[in-house]
This record gives sequence, structure tokens and C-alpha cells, in this order.
Amino acid sequence: MSWNENLHNAKTGKNDEFYTQLIDIEKELQHYKEHFKGKTVFCNCDDPYESNFFKYFAMNFNHLWLKKLIVTWYSTSSIAYTQLWGLFDVRPQAYKIEINEMFDVNQDGCEDLLDVRYFLEHLNSSKNKLVALKGDGDFRSTESLELLQEADIVVTNPPFSLFREYVNVLMRYQKKFLILGNMNAITYKEIFPLIKENKLWTWYGFNMSMVYKTTYPNLLEANRKYVIWKGYNPDDWYVKVPAICWYTNLDINKRHEDLIMYKKYTKDEYPKYETFDAIDVNTVSEIPFDYYWIMWVPKTFIDKYNPNQFELLWYEREDENIQVWIKNMSKSFLDDYRKYWGKWHYTSWMKMLCYYDNNRIPRIPFSRILIRRKK
Ligand SMILES: C[S@@+](CC[C@H](N)C(=O)[O-])C[C@H]1O[C@@H](n2cnc3c(N)ncnc32)[C@H](O)[C@@H]1O
Repeated sequence: MSWNENLHNAKTGKNDEFYTQLIDIEKELQHYKEHFKGKTVFCNCDDPYESNFFKYFAMNFNHLWLKKLIVTWYSTSSIAYTQLWGLFDVRPQAYKIEINEMFDVNQDGCEDLLDVRYFLEHLNSSKNKLVALKGDGDFRSTESLELLQEADIVVTNPPFSLFREYVNVLMRYQKKFLILGNMNAITYKEIFPLIKENKLWTWYGFNMSMVYKTTYPNLLEANRKYVIWKGYNPDDWYVKVPAICWYTNLDINKRHEDLIMYKKYTKDEYPKYETFDAIDVNTVSEIPFDYYWIMWVPKTFIDKYNPNQFELLWYEREDENIQVWIKNMSKSFLDDYRKYWGKWHYTSWMKMLCYYDNNRIPRIPFSRILIRRKK
């Protein structure tokens, strides 16, 4: 199965079982420690026997000064219940675990996975609880939403196929969050306006290729090589998934850092579009420091977006509003385009950004975001 098939299956809901590795969680979470003190964290798509989000927060419960950790999981998860350590006699429905205390039970000098395991096996003999849910643990269920209300911060890797809906729930309940998602989500018509309104942003880990544990093997040679290079065994069903980002609304310094720009604007280097009154900037690092009118930039700009420095205006493809302002491509441009690049599926009724570069090569850039400098 190819990487794109992985993603496609995830998006269409055929497979949402992608398990995040502890090291990837640690790498991102190290930037957020101050946000967790005295807080209740909720992981609402997380079978604790498999989820490293649960393990991370349980192990770091005292280090982060957490008040409480709540974890719920989905009863239909195909990977759940494979590592139950004999806790359940029959296949159970969904459960919630509440961690209210953690300590070094085996007194080996640190709170680690052995202590987490001890707590899982002796949940009801401490202040920690394991309680059966009435429903299936769906993050949209009444039970889960009640827990959401109790929580301060939600941290997880939600099902890719339900990403839009998942974010919608977080917004409705006005929760702080730190979640993983695919980079394509930046330009979803439900997500881009949230970035524009500063209700959500992407952070440290941006456009990453990640290795997930999943429920099927990926026999593709490139996958095997990548997984081995990252230190995992592909025969244990680890797969590479590209273009992953962390999405959050927790404020951190990086969000207020200015993009350093070094290039001067010249008409030759920054062509104007044939179909829109703005310039094309091909790479984010080449945004000119002295240009204050609108420009189209690749969507990787979001990684550098500081709302004090730039205004985020529109996204090209899925945004009906901006589509009104983009003119149809002219027949002469399309003729030139076909002459240069061969046959393409573009037609003159399409509203696309297009330009001639300074060698008069006709170009239709891929996936642009419209921005304007503020200062
Ligand atoms: C991408 S996996 C991530 C699992 C875990 N959070 C992790 O990062 O290791 C998404 C998980 O959400 C579960 N899931 C799917 N639909 C769900 C729903 N409606 N409510 C809650 N969980 C769901 C899946 O079973 C799957 O285990």
C-alpha cells in the first residue's frame, strides 16, 4: 500500500488506526510545559493500552503538575484490546480512565511505564479510576462531551477521517487543544477560516513525515526503508505518513517571531498574475521585505505566520469568495501553456492563478495562500 493510499484510507475512514510514537509526542510536548500546570488533560481517542498520549501524560503527570488525566477510547477501534494484560474477562465496551495521582510505585527512582502499568492493573485500589462508559466512546457522544466540558486541554491524534468534525467540537466547547492532523487540513474550508481568525495555528512539528504503528503491513520498499531508517521494524506494521502537522490554540513564543526576509522586490523576479492583481512568491523564504501589497505564497507559509506581521486573506482553491475575484484564464495563456507543457486538463472557464515567469514560461502554481504585510 502506498503512502497516498495510507492517507486516502485514513481520510475516507477505511482506516483510522494510526498510533503515534512516544518520541514524536515528547518532541512536541517539550514546548508546552507551562500550559499544563494544574490542568485537566483529556485524550478522547485513546485506548490507554495502546496510546502513547496516555502513557506520556501518565508518566509525566507530576512533572507537568497535572490536576487530572482523563482518557476515553472507542469501542470499535480495531486495535483496541490487543494488549489488555488480563484486565478484562470479556471484550469490554468503551471505558474511561481517570488518573488523579501517580507515583514511583516500584521505587526505582522514576515514574515510568512500569508504574503506569502498575496503575492500569490496580486502578481501583488508588485514587485512579476505570469506569465503563454506557456508549461506544465516540468523541461526539454525550458522555464524552461531558468529560470535554470538565477538561482544560485536549491532546490527541484524532481520526484523520473525522478531523473537520473533531475540530468543530473543540471550537464549540471552546477548548484548548494540541492535536495532530494532516497538512492538507490547512486549506479545508472549515479549517482555513479558523487560522485566519487566529483561533487555531500550526506549531513546532510542521509538515513532518511520521512513522505510525498501524493495523496492516505496508510492503512498499520505500516504506520499509524509511521505517527502518527511523529505527522501527516494518514487519511490526509501522508505516510512514507524510505531511503531518500539530494544530493548537496554545500560545507559544514562535507564533510571535517575525519572519526574517532578505530579498528585495523586483518586477522581474516576482511576476504579476494574468488573472489576479497580485504577485507570485514561489517560496516562503523569498517573500520580499519591501513589498506591502498582496501576494500569493505557498501554503507552507502557515508555519511562519505571525499575525502581527502578516494578514492572512484567502486560500485559492477551495475558497468560493476568492474564486469570485480570480479571472478566467485567457485562451492565449492556455494555448501557450499547452504548447509549453503539452496537453493539460485546464480549460478557459477555470478561474486559476497563472502567470508568465521572467523567461516567458507560462505557469500555474500549486495551492497558494493570499497574504499582505502589516508592518
Ligand atoms: C489516528 S488514531 C490515533 C490513536 C491515538 N490517539 C494515537 O495517537 O496513538 C485515531 C483513533 O481514533 C479512534 N476513533 C475513530 N473514530 C472515533 C470516534 N468517533 N470517537 C472516538 N475515537 C474514534 C480510532 O479507533 C483510532 O484509534
